[in-house]
Formats: sequence, C-alpha cells, structure tokens
Amino acid sequence: MEEKVVDKNAIPRHVAIIMDGNGRWAKARGMPRMMGHRKGVEVAKEITRAAADIGIEYLTIWAFSTENWRRPPEEISGLMGLLHHTLKADLTEFHENGVRLRVLGSRKNLDQKTLELIDHAVKLTQNNTRFNLNIAFNYGGRDDIIQAARTLAKKVQEGALQPDEINEDLFSESLYTCGIPDPELLIRTSNELRISNYILWQMAYTEMVFIETYWPDFTKDDLLKAIIDYQQRDRRFGKVSSK
Ligand code: IPE
Ligand code: IPE
Ligand code: MG
Repeated sequence: MEEKVVDKNAIPRHVAIIMDGNGRWAKARGMPRMMGHRKGVEVAKEITRAAADIGIEYLTIWAFSTENWRRPPEEISGLMGLLHHTLKADLTEFHENGVRLRVLGSRKNLDQKTLELIDHAVKLTQNNTRFNLNIAFNYGGRDDIIQAARTLAKKVQEGALQPDEINEDLFSESLYTCGIPDPELLIRTSNELRISNYILWQMAYTEMVFIETYWPDFTKDDLLKAIIDYQQRDRRFGKVSSK
C-alpha cells in the first residue's frame, strides 16, 4: 500500500490535544504517577516545537481539568508544581522562539503564586506571533460556557447589550478562547473515547482522532499520522459531500 504523506497545503490551523495516560504509563513501568506527568511535560514541549515546524498555528494542550481537583492532594500539588516549573524554566525559550502563551481556564482555586506566574508569562509573550501555545489549565468546557453566559448576562443587566444581540460570534468572543479559531483537529491519547468536558462549544465541528499511545510515548510521527488521518476526512459541515 502506498504510504500517505502530509498535504502541506491542508495543515490544520488549530490542533487541540487531550494529553492522557501519564499515570498508566508510569504504572506500567512500576513508577509513581508523577514520573508520568514529568515525562508528559517533556513530550508536550517537544510536540510544541514539532507543531510549529509542521506549520500548525495554534496548539491547545490540556494540563489540568476542573474535574482533576478530585485527585489526591499530592498529585494536585505535583501538577501545580509542574506548571510553575514550566512557566519559570521554559518561559525564556518560548519567548525567544516567538511563542505566544495563553493559559485557558478558571482562576478560581488557583493560588496567588500560580496566578502571578500565569499573568507574567501571558503578558511577556502577548505580542509574539510565530506560534500560539494554549495551556488549558483548571479548564472545563462547561465552566467556560457558564462564565461566558455570566459575562453576557452582566452586560445585559448593565444595559450595554440587548438579549437579541447575543449570537454565536459574540458568545465565542466571551469564551476563554476569545480570538482563537476553533480547532479543526482534536487528538486524545491513551485509548479513552470521550471528551471529558474539554472545549465543548469550540469543538462543534472538530475532527477527532483517538490513539492508543499513552501521552509520554507520543511523538511527532504520531502527530503527523493524526494530521494525515484528518486530511482524509470529508468535512461536510451539514452540506452534501463535494467529493
Ligand atoms: C493525563 O494523564 C494528565 C492529567 C490528567 C493531568 P492521567 O494522569 O489522566 O493518566 P491516566 O489517565 O491516569 O493514565
Ligand atoms: C482529561 O483527562 C484531563 C486532562 C488530560 C488534563 P482525565 O484523565 O482527567 O479524564 P477522565 O477522568 O479519564 O475522563
Ligand atoms: Mg487520564
């Protein structure tokens, strides 16, 4: 069979990833779950570089969900520590490479230090244009929709907006992903076939690729394969097939 190659003229602009399987990866090696998360961060950095090389413009990776607060306290603080580390140790490299960093999610329950690091990183990189890395942290799709609804309701209450003026564009602009195009492709690793409350509104027409590999084993090659898979899809958007 002829091997398929990536069509460079049809690279998705925005790829969203559910980086899943860190814990099972570690468990399979007799290591504590945190070792999986640590390796996962390394892989996330490699994949960020790979995505920029491939010509993807936006990469949204999910590092902590609104439901992950249900995990044991040691794991939660370990994951917070990894975010701190990334926002400190890797920030210069991101900045020098023209990466604009955004952190998507709720500020609720995050401590002052975490919020300061997030704000600093976002502000430092806000004018960078080479690549957009969005870290979804304390992110939940329903929370995103609720906070958008609240923002719009307040505007209506203040008399700055009429209920009839609320449309899809205005709603999209009120989400954490304001200014970011909807993802064309979602990849979830570790063979879990669910969305787990990720970017729900934004994924209305996203193509999904589920792969068996645990996130710490994910490679650039897996990313290219997922893009090839995406490129075979017939994206109809409700219309009749053009093929
Ligand atoms: C994904 O790996 C990373 C986070 C949710 C932070 P998991 O920690 O969910 O790993 P598994 O699914 O338990 O293997
Ligand atoms: C989703 O993975 C959240 C992140 C990858 C950060 P989970 O491992 O938390 O999702 P469930 O619990 O399997 O649905
Ligand atoms: Mg998981």
